[in-house]
Amino acid sequence: MKKLYIKTYGCQMNVYDSEKMATLLAPLGYGLTETPGEADVAILNTCHIREKAEQKVFSDLGRLNMVKKEREEGGKDTIIAVGGCVAQAEGEEIIKQAPYVNMVFGPQTYHRLPEMLAQLLRSKGQDLRIVDTDFPVESKFDHLIQPEHSNVSAFLTIQEGCDKFCTFCCVPYTRGAESSRPVDAILKEAEHLVRVGAKEITLLGQNVNAYHGSMNGKEWGLGRLLYALAEISGLERIRYTTSHPRDMDDALILAHKEIPQLMPFLHLPVQSGSDRILEAMNRKHKVDFYIDIINRLRDVRPDIAFSSDFIVGFPGETEADHAQTLELVEKVNYAQAYSFKYSIRPGTPAGIHEWQVPEEIKDRRLQELQTLLFQQQKAFNTSFVGQVIPVLFDREGRHEGQLMGRSPFMQSVYVAASERHLGAIAHVKIDKATQNSISGAIDTTESVLSPANTFAEAKSKAV
Ligand code: SAH
Ligand code: SF4
Ligand code: F3S
Repeated sequence: MKKLYIKTYGCQMNVYDSEKMATLLAPLGYGLTETPGEADVAILNTCHIREKAEQKVFSDLGRLNMVKKEREEGGKDTIIAVGGCVAQAEGEEIIKQAPYVNMVFGPQTYHRLPEMLAQLLRSKGQDLRIVDTDFPVESKFDHLIQPEHSNVSAFLTIQEGCDKFCTFCCVPYTRGAESSRPVDAILKEAEHLVRVGAKEITLLGQNVNAYHGSMNGKEWGLGRLLYALAEISGLERIRYTTSHPRDMDDALILAHKEIPQLMPFLHLPVQSGSDRILEAMNRKHKVDFYIDIINRLRDVRPDIAFSSDFIVGFPGETEADHAQTLELVEKVNYAQAYSFKYSIRPGTPAGIHEWQVPEEIKDRRLQELQTLLFQQQKAFNTSFVGQVIPVLFDREGRHEGQLMGRSPFMQSVYVAASERHLGAIAHVKIDKATQNSISGAIDTTESVLSPANTFAEAKSKAV
């Protein structure tokens, strides 16, 4: 069997795409390997969101080239491919800078991988290099293959691209215009995933709640789609990410009250706590609007927990703006959050702004923000000590005899338990909390909520 190595950077949509790439290449005889030295085909599925992510790709490419040379000495060919968002943004540049790269394709063209690969293999020795960074009319989703097995916690992309053009962000350029998959295609994929082992599905989109799919000529929003998904028997947990505050409509908020499978945890990025900066970012809402949504969600689902993304040091951000971000964090009280220093993205409006914030100020603001966020995260985790909560075990833990799972609130939960609990939802009594995780023991006074199904088997075969 030929070997395929895929390294995935960036967001969950890239994770979904990488899984699909592996499924597309499996019929051509490619099995996955985690060792680049074994790979006949090596794909880097890249992310362009911040400069660091991009730099990492170029250094990893250099390393792959060394591997390619070593393999060459042993008489073996290696095809190196770059996919994803860096490929989309800098396809031609990659080809110029890295002559050993054979194939470059964007997030909307990877369904053509088998064809591209076949072309390369046919051209053997002719130094063919393929760049496919179209935004094709046909949808890649119509060409993807469903997997034979699913992880117990699966991703399902329902929406792609973005039309919001936040001034700091490259996504509208790398992923293209916003588009939603039809309702029936999503329901079919979800039913299939559950049939082959999934108990939890996370719906994905760069603006997942801007979803507006069609069903029998009618338009469905994300709220309506969630009700339909909740009808699927065996689908025990539903999540969605990433949401934009402006697209949290009434139906979606109500879904959080009425759908028990919808987990009480929402990633709702706000980026900044300053109205002035939100405007400069083109987020098109004010801080009060965001707080109002948080309050409305808490009204319908009192135990709901929140996470967010923050950017510090956006061009023109003052100490007063930064203080307002800290104030907002105090007000909301997050269970968890991601925070980043503003990073210039070529071609975006904020990148050419004259008031760039010096690096040391960004460092200090990031540290202040993270200190506060980490305190909140630790306090959130600590509040579970002594409680019994349902945990979906989806992988082995860091230590022998340990499993890791997720709480309804996306916390990592570590428990000493046998493999037979993999893929099961069981009650866990929490006895310890740190900033990053909680741990405890399976509560034997409560029965196992949902026994493991074919997960153990699925895990060994999953791509
Ligand atoms: N669609 C999502 C965000 C997707 S990008 C939303 O609108 O919330 C993921 C996160 O990366 C963003 O929320 C933002 O916090 C961060 N990010 C995007 N561009 C960035 C940049 N140029 N510099 C630093 N962080 C950035
Ligand atoms: Fe980027 Fe803004 Fe679109 Fe999110 S909404 S992907 S931050 S442009
Ligand atoms: Fe990165 Fe592209 Fe996702 S830029 S965050 S991989 S959409």
